[in-house]
Amino acid sequence: MTVTATPVRRLLPLLPTHPGGRSAQTCHFRCGDQCAQPVPNTSGNRYFGDVLAEGISRRSVVRAGALGAAVVGLASWGQATPAAARPTHAGSHGFTAIDPVPSTVDAVTVPEGYRWEPVASWGDPVLPGAPAFDFDAQTPEAQRQQFGYNCDYVAVLGAGNAAGAKAVMVVNHEYTNDNLMFRDYTDAAGLSIEQLEIIMAAHGMSVVEVRRQGARRAWRVDPAGRRNRRIHTHTELRLDGPAAGSEHLRTSADPTGTVVLGTLNNCAGGTTPWGTVLSGEENFHQYFNATGAADPDGRLRRYGITGGGRGWERADSRFLVAEEPNEVNRHGWIVEVDPEDPTSAPVKHTALGRFKHEGATVALAADGRAVAYMGDDERYDYLYKFVSAQSMRRGNSAAARRHNLQLLAEGDLYVARFTGDGFEDGVYDGTGEWLPLVLDGRSQVPGFTVAEVLVWTRLAADTVGATKMDRPEDVEPNPANGRVYAALTNNTRRTPGEIDEANPRANNRFGHVIEIDPDGGDHASRTFGWNIVLVCGDPEDPTTYYAGFDKSDVSPISCPDNVAFDREGNLWISTDGQPGTLGYNDGLFMMPVDGDQRGNLQQFLAVPVGAETCGPVIDPTGLSVLVAVQHPGEVTGASPDTVVSQFPYLGDGQPRPGVIHVVPQ
Ligand code: FEO
Ligand code: CA
Ligand code: CA
Repeated sequence: MTVTATPVRRLLPLLPTHPGGRSAQTCHFRCGDQCAQPVPNTSGNRYFGDVLAEGISRRSVVRAGALGAAVVGLASWGQATPAAARPTHAGSHGFTAIDPVPSTVDAVTVPEGYRWEPVASWGDPVLPGAPAFDFDAQTPEAQRQQFGYNCDYVAVLGAGNAAGAKAVMVVNHEYTNDNLMFRDYTDAAGLSIEQLEIIMAAHGMSVVEVRRQGARRAWRVDPAGRRNRRIHTHTELRLDGPAAGSEHLRTSADPTGTVVLGTLNNCAGGTTPWGTVLSGEENFHQYFNATGAADPDGRLRRYGITGGGRGWERADSRFLVAEEPNEVNRHGWIVEVDPEDPTSAPVKHTALGRFKHEGATVALAADGRAVAYMGDDERYDYLYKFVSAQSMRRGNSAAARRHNLQLLAEGDLYVARFTGDGFEDGVYDGTGEWLPLVLDGRSQVPGFTVAEVLVWTRLAADTVGATKMDRPEDVEPNPANGRVYAALTNNTRRTPGEIDEANPRANNRFGHVIEIDPDGGDHASRTFGWNIVLVCGDPEDPTTYYAGFDKSDVSPISCPDNVAFDREGNLWISTDGQPGTLGYNDGLFMMPVDGDQRGNLQQFLAVPVGAETCGPVIDPTGLSVLVAVQHPGEVTGASPDTVVSQFPYLGDGQPRPGVIHVVPQ
């Protein structure tokens, strides 16, 4: 079906949202209310403010202090009134920017000359024989064969736009809005075992074959595709790497410490040069009930595993930490899925460390080693990099494939330290180094074995002087220019005394994007240069910065989350948090990062009320874009009987998170 226009609905007054930009529902169901918890990183790593206090120039102190004060003052802006229509821009972008869309609008908004179609939505059949979606008759068995809930990362392997083109699409399912899935929802304790099993089945990943009939047509799922599969909370995955099999990963159900059921809270991801898909297990802590669990060394606390869970322990006792203390150590990893082999067990790679993984994106070093960049999405947590021991083998032979599927099992793990060169130059920039945690199979962290570094990576990184960042989300290398772009989505807890040049705003509600330039142009390099290429917010806010570009004709943007690149190397940014910070629906933006248009950020689309924009895939042909529309209608007070969004407007009367394809008309 084709959807070109949708009436605007205002079914509920929109309630205030969390200061970080998310609705209270998002906080509860996605992150387990982690923003309301104490900051888990209480390590003594110094802030730039501490360094200043020790005697860096008086001028720096004054400038830094003034900036902090200016940003704190933004709190008085409150919810911005949506601006009048902004000037549009066609220019080199290939589209005319849309105006920001007020956060009450229940519609997908795309530029003139484009239209959109749903590709896959929650409940769509994925496996042969799967029943059609029926909101009021959902079962665990049906959900295990159907497309899962809130999609985040999207990968399309084998693109093309000729009639009959075929590809495989891999999508993950981060979390569920339990209160939007069941009419009788009250709270976690009120969920039936059957409802809990539906929820568990709606997490995980989907692999689906897709076909399209030309450049102006959207991908469509082939429900009979050979490679179609659902990965959910009861699917067997394999653990590999140095921590696999260690005492920390053994449970009563798996004394080998190498086989784990399920992958949870999968957020962003990456597509490897060898044709597999990586996915990050992010806020896994919230599924575990930590009541009565001993935590003598603070390992649970550092990962936020302190709450009462989501009721899952009633369906599966491994989610009760006091009963099965090591089960929680088997989550929080990077997962690799081979979409070509639907019988293969997805692998959790312990060599890449355990934290709240936003995702992992891979580039090749000069010598062919795989370098994975990763963010730990929590306020004051870190950026990481993994460098494989072996180099990738080219070609599609079975031997090359086997070799490449082992690449992420062994290698070095680093965490980033950013050093500013001073605020005096008016630019947020400096140098940085990757501090080793594991090198050549040996721990670089006194008091930690290699397995301990990998299982409690946050605690290991706390000891080496890593830089506390403003919630690192996607970190992705740009294939066109070799530089790496990291989205720091926001951090409203940062105080003026805690700013540093890489995290230069106190009360950072709007986030920023850092550009990292590996020394020698080699992703394996231990050192790098960096600068902040985008300081987000309303362009009229004097603390915003669009790489020095004239701000009179750029789009407002807030809370950058996922990044992607088109074939020219332009940076595409999707957002999560604009409703609560700017009063606009979240969206997808394009910003050139080279040439005279560097910094000219323009908005391409907006998602409906309550949703965030995820998983952007920029068609390699340059003609179309896919995005995931995550948690449409997720607004405080919404329920199946008080519907705020009916995305994707297929007549179900309920929101159905999914993936859409924006194509030229
Ligand atoms: Fe799931 Fe960091 O966003
Ligand atoms: Ca500087
Ligand atoms: Ca994200």
